[in-house]
Amino acid sequence: MQAVFWMTAGLLCLAPGLSSAQRPRPCRSPLLYTGSFTVGTQNEKLWAVGNYAYDAVNQRIYLGEVGRYNNNSFIYDVLFLFDEGVLYEINRQNQTCVKEALHSDFHPMQVPKDAAFVSQVVLGSNSSLVQGLLVNNWRGYIPGITDHYFVSFTEFGCFPVLMLIQTKDFGWVGLSYYNNILGADPNCFIPPPFCEDATLVENEDGKVTNFFSVFH
Ligand SMILES: *[C@@H]1O[C@H](CO)[C@@H](O)[C@H](O)[C@H]1NC(C)=O
Ligand SMILES: *[C@@H]1O[C@H](CO)[C@@H](O)[C@H](O)[C@H]1NC(C)=O
Ligand SMILES: *[C@@H]1O[C@H](CO)[C@@H](O)[C@H](O)[C@H]1NC(C)=O
Repeated sequence: MQAVFWMTAGLLCLAPGLSSAQRPRPCRSPLLYTGSFTVGTQNEKLWAVGNYAYDAVNQRIYLGEVGRYNNNSFIYDVLFLFDEGVLYEINRQNQTCVKEALHSDFHPMQVPKDAAFVSQVVLGSNSSLVQGLLVNNWRGYIPGITDHYFVSFTEFGCFPVLMLIQTKDFGWVGLSYYNNILGADPNCFIPPPFCEDATLVENEDGKVTNFFSVFH
């Protein structure tokens, strides 16, 4: 995490200035795609790697991940069905399923409209077209939700690449996204048969269940 952050800071310093005519605008990612991610937190309580499927048309997200939380390994899938207001935590090994009320709104994957443009950089090498990936870096502040954030999205296609998000529970959270492919298998978003019997649980304190609260 330290290393990621340091490298990000380095990229910012080295970034050449752009004239205002070429200044990128905040963009929204494609509506439907599939990819992989890694996530790690500053306080090292959590890391995970996995796959995801994103469907902004029907407001649903699938995450399949393996990782460690508080020194315990976990393998599980999470299915967020925002339009139905539920999420499923699915343990395929044990064939168990927890169905929870999901109280947060669907937030499309995008550079927030009020994000401040930081720089445009090439990841990898800019020596030849096939060696580099052109990304735009943005930063901003959403009080109460993420506090400070830093995000990189590709210039072409508006795919997320890197996110650094400040959270109360985990400190800085770093997410990287890769291997994105347009489209998603609709079956990803259908809970497995053993979820049918799961009863809906409201989590304690009526706490808002959001993307990060599934890592408990
Ligand atoms: C995880 O394990 C390491 C080494 O055993 C220990 O130093 C650390 O405190 C543990 N972390 C947590 C959150 O339990
Ligand atoms: C799954 O089953 C294993 C073996 O019975 C058990 O150790 C583990 O705690 C279970 N995991 C969950 C999430 O219930
Ligand atoms: C990458 O190289 C091209 C061609 O030399 C140049 O126009 C462009 O400014 C470079 N981009 C960055 C971010 O350095």
